Amino acid sequence: MPKFELTHALALLVFTLALALYARWKNSGQFPLPPGPRKLPILGNLFDVPQKGYIWLEYAKMCRKHNSDIIHLSALGNSVVVLNSAQIVSDLLEKRSSLYSSRPPTVMLGELMGWGAALAFRPNDDAWKAQRKIITRAISPADPKLFHLTQITATHDLLRVLAHSNDIMKDLHMWAAGFIMDVIYGIRGEEAEIFLKTAVEAVDSIAIAGTPGEFLVDQIPFLKYIPEWFPGADFKRKAREWNVLRIKMTEDAYRVTKERMAAGTATPSLASVALEQMDLTKDIAQQEELIKMASVIAYGGGLDTVAMTLQAFILAMLMNPDVQTKAQCELDRVLAPGDLPNFSLEPDLPYISAIVREVFRYQPATPLGFPHLVTDDDVYSGYLIPKGSIIIPNVWSILHNEDDYPDPYRFNPSRYLDINGKIDHSIKDPISPVFGFGRRACPGKDVAAASLWIAVASILTCYTIEPEIDERGNLMERTGEWHQGPTLFNCPVPSKCRFVFRSKDVEASLHGGKCT
Ligand code: HEM
Ligand SMILES: *[C@@H]1O[C@H](CO)[C@@H](O)[C@H](O)[C@H]1NC(C)=O
Repeated sequence: MPKFELTHALALLVFTLALALYARWKNSGQFPLPPGPRKLPILGNLFDVPQKGYIWLEYAKMCRKHNSDIIHLSALGNSVVVLNSAQIVSDLLEKRSSLYSSRPPTVMLGELMGWGAALAFRPNDDAWKAQRKIITRAISPADPKLFHLTQITATHDLLRVLAHSNDIMKDLHMWAAGFIMDVIYGIRGEEAEIFLKTAVEAVDSIAIAGTPGEFLVDQIPFLKYIPEWFPGADFKRKAREWNVLRIKMTEDAYRVTKERMAAGTATPSLASVALEQMDLTKDIAQQEELIKMASVIAYGGGLDTVAMTLQAFILAMLMNPDVQTKAQCELDRVLAPGDLPNFSLEPDLPYISAIVREVFRYQPATPLGFPHLVTDDDVYSGYLIPKGSIIIPNVWSILHNEDDYPDPYRFNPSRYLDINGKIDHSIKDPISPVFGFGRRACPGKDVAAASLWIAVASILTCYTIEPEIDERGNLMERTGEWHQGPTLFNCPVPSKCRFVFRSKDVEASLHGGKCT
């Protein structure tokens, strides 16, 4: 395609879009848009949308600058509203959930990468409801005990490898996959490994492509017709490769479940139970498609997020040895030498529960949640929130608010405890903002929280997390680092640390089969 024609057509398109948008805002009554950075003609805030670094901090900075916890940005016809406080998020995403629970349609993620039909990324329509139902039915919070055995097994598998780990992120992903793949597909333990690389890469590609403003094609859909070889069209190559990952991730594990069902060797799982419960009088292919998508989203939704959160915990222990010591004292009071923790001890281990809360708060895996879409014009605090705006809840800001969490940049689990050392329920539980809002709230919340709790308790029973030793035999500095965006994930850089066995007793019970 000749370059001239393309740029020409583009300019025309952008201009028409901007004009239409301007006309709509102008006519939308007496309510102004929320404050925000100055908008350029046509381009709007295209250059203000954070593209690098920790984008949740950039958005928080923008809110401070405009002295408002609700701000508005526009970019080439897209309207974006950032919510920066618990109150506003609750007023809109929760109290007005029927209006604020859709998802933005995205060309990159939805069309080019092919994820558009899957529940996490589609509007709140019937197919979304059906897929959500498949998931909630399989992992109903009514029976949290259902998964305890598989979570404990995966955790003990992790304990066995930590002492000599040389790829901690991979071990943590294996731990996550160890119980999630069992729950979703009936694929257990080591079997999960062959699926892991594809899944982790696919989920990472979603976190990049799902970041608002990351790909211009989402603002100018017309760009999707550019051929891959065209200068600057690298996104087309990425989209193609990421689409291949999606297909592989979706099909491979699902096929295994189906083969096992046919052979009569399948163990009960989300996919197998949903397949058995299909309504044979209705369209089977359509139902299967929904089951397949629900499965892959639940698998992907839980894989990286729990692994990143556990890595954040490991870093927090490395950086806060006093917290680690205090937790170990609590464990030693409750457990006999050589015993490993189980879920029935939860009421006796409030400091462990407080650590899990503080890990969620201090470095949340999804600091901007996942974008919502408002499906009609709305007015809040005298501001117009235009229909079709992308809504970004700044979970990071909510969790680092000084009024709710004094001294927010300190890792301090004791903030959740009362004077008797029990959980103080007047302190806001970070779990609620971390797992999202309203009708879109994460259906895997309880499973994820339980698996983190047992992993934290078990790791601290077995090990002390200490700095690595350098060539001269000195302890290396206790430092933590976090990957810089543009991604929706807050991903810790694997820490330089050692897992030092606390006693011969636990070491023996780990390897003596006592822990199964
Ligand atoms: C630490 C672990 C996890 C974190 C931090 C997390 C976080 C989130 C967040 C922020 C959302 C978007 C909520 C919103 O739009 O307001 C979400 C959605 C979702 N999560 Fe999770 N999640 C975790 C674990 C899991 C697990 C274990 C599963 C599966 C069993 C899961 C399945 C899903 C699904 C299916 C959705 C899409 C819901 C929808 O769009 O209706 N997640 N999660
Ligand atoms: C949980 O652990 C405690 C302490 O080690 C033990 O007394 C109890 O029997 C265990 N409970 C279950 C259900 O295994």
